[in-house]
Amino acid sequence: MVVPAYKAHGELGAISQLDCGCGCGCGCGLGTITLGLAVRLRPGRVVGVEVAELGVEWARTRLRRLPTLKNLSFQNADIYALPFEDESFDRVFGHALLEHLAESPWRFARSIGS
Ligand SMILES: C[S@@+](CC[C@H](N)C(=O)[O-])C[C@H]1O[C@@H](n2cnc3c(N)ncnc32)[C@H](O)[C@@H]1O
Repeated sequence: MVVPAYKAHGELGAISQLDCGCGCGCGCGLGTITLGLAVRLRPGRVVGVEVAELGVEWARTRLRRLPTLKNLSFQNADIYALPFEDESFDRVFGHALLEHLAESPWRFARSIGS
């Protein structure tokens, strides 16, 4: 039996315990984990942000196959300069991200207001 990655991640299980409205999946890669986040936060809006254009393309392709998942979108952007107003999200999620950042994770933390 094949379990989709978004169902297998314990972190997402923890998020489902939270009463949160909308979320941002930072450094979302191909969007697999962010997809799971969107399923759990539905109908809350979720945006996946990824700096690699190809990742965003793949994520959007996958999303087109899930027409009922209307609360999710993907954006090509740098997490150090997120293109959102302050306080746009209740939760910011980054899976397997910090160790892949070219610059300080603290700069990222400051950019999301932590
Ligand atoms: C190991 S992958 C994790 C992908 C996804 N979160 C997952 O767990 O499947 C790390 C991702 O972070 C992205 N990334 C690294 N620096 C970034 C930045 N400054 N802004 C946005 N994405 C970034 C990379 O392009 C890569 O897709």
